[in-house]
Amino acid sequence: MQKSKYYVISLGGSLIVPKNGIDWKFLKNFRELIIKEIKKNKKFIIVAGGGNTARDYQTAASKVTKLTDDDKDWIGIHSTRLNAHLIKTIFRKYAHSRINKNPRTKADIRKHFQKNEKIMVAAGWRPGWSTDYVATILAERLGAKTVINLSNIQYVYDKDPKKYKTAKKIKEITWPDFRKIVGNKWDPGLNAPFDPIASKHAEEQGLEVIIAEGKNTKNLEKYFNGEKFKGTVIKARG
Ligand code: UTP
Repeated sequence: MQKSKYYVISLGGSLIVPKNGIDWKFLKNFRELIIKEIKKNKKFIIVAGGGNTARDYQTAASKVTKLTDDDKDWIGIHSTRLNAHLIKTIFRKYAHSRINKNPRTKADIRKHFQKNEKIMVAAGWRPGWSTDYVATILAERLGAKTVINLSNIQYVYDKDPKKYKTAKKIKEITWPDFRKIVGNKWDPGLNAPFDPIASKHAEEQGLEVIIAEGKNTKNLEKYFNGEKFKGTVIKARG
């Protein structure tokens, strides 16, 4: 039998919990697609983001008292855990029963797949970065070459398309050029196409990162089938 391939998905929290509450319709479509791909012998690592739950809690606590950046990040981390639990629950039959909360754990993370499980669900780890970073560490440890970053943007642009009408979409970019766009600094609640700390790690590890719109599951399916798809490819080597 053909060896199955690991696909690491950084599932943006903005897809799970957008501003107006949990998007169960998206989750339903996403679930259908992933199950279809599992049947084609793929295995998935899904890292859940915090989305609006993280933002809401961070904002509320900040209104009550002054928070440190660590405090803000920890609230974010706990929302990623809640969302990870939601993801694990909807994939009950396919996912390992425990959520990975420490991508650098000494334990053998392949244990998540030992009982023929098809999915490993992971959440945030520690302050100082986002779940994108967790995704790059898990990719490194499982020997996956690509991280698929799903959020609510279709492409990376050379400048903020909400502010500049002349912003141009980028279909392919090298890590040095991409890192010029996102910078090097982490801020809790930062909203970059791929977090700067994760970008540094991905560049060092020679990972390829795909940035695509998560809601467009038809497009995602094209990617999985090796067909032309909409999205930005950050190439492993420039
Ligand atoms: P994410 O930044 O990963 O989720 O985690 P998101 O904002 O929902 O993702 P996108 O923007 O849609 O892609 C939410 C927050 O949790 C904290 C950070 O504060 C982050 O902004 N966090 C998450 C950490 O501090 N460390 C982690 O390892 C993960």
